Amino acid sequence: MSAADMGLADESAAPLVGAVVVAAGSGTRLGAGRPKAFVELAGVTLLEHAVSRVRDGGVRHVVAVVPVELVARAGELLGDRAQVVAGGERRQDSVAAGLRALPADVQVVLVHDAARCLAPASLVARVAAAVGPHAPAVVPGLTVVDTLKEVDDAGHVVATVDREPLRRVQTPQGFDRTVLEQAHETAGDSAATDDAALVERLGLAVTVVAGDELALKVTTAQDLALAEWLLARGRGD
Ligand code: C5P
Repeated sequence: MSAADMGLADESAAPLVGAVVVAAGSGTRLGAGRPKAFVELAGVTLLEHAVSRVRDGGVRHVVAVVPVELVARAGELLGDRAQVVAGGERRQDSVAAGLRALPADVQVVLVHDAARCLAPASLVARVAAAVGPHAPAVVPGLTVVDTLKEVDDAGHVVATVDREPLRRVQTPQGFDRTVLEQAHETAGDSAATDDAALVERLGLAVTVVAGDELALKVTTAQDLALAEWLLARGRGD
């Protein structure tokens, strides 16, 4: 199916961009005793860091998706910077909830992990600008520096994988809204770790633009310490 067949945005008009910032995970690997997005970095929650940078990237309508018991708290923290809705069991359920809350006139949707709290405004703008009729799905990616091995169940190396064509993919990921909605509807019960994977299953092209090391995903206590270090040195502003 071509992008035009799906009624994608007209190339001549600048589409209205919205964002879904998912923050409804439990974040147990961080060991902070509360959902990861509500952990503070330099006195500000990861969720607020993420939403601020998305807004600085030019996105005016942001939906933050949080655990149901923290909807009121997130509303207090974010004020008019974001609309807040409750998330679901899986990441893709949370994205779908955010997508449903976006105003009807939003044509391009950025999906962003709150855990990538230092993803800079320049990355947000780069991804949003790359989405269009010929690029209905856009992801930021970085090259791989480690040597990669495929292993069997016994831990023996089966093969050395060519890292040259591989990319580490980050968020925000940008989508034509129609495409993203269809990708989620089609996904049903099958799970995916990112939204681009759902678009790939539709047989549509996913375009990679340059990622940014600052968009690291805060998963462990070490990642949090690194993010704190970057902020203290004026990086990630
Ligand atoms: O679990 P993982 O680290 O892959 O989560 C990535 C992002 O998705 C996090 O920002 C997390 O809060 C969010 N998430 C969510 N709802 C879930 C699971 C994860 O919003 N059910």
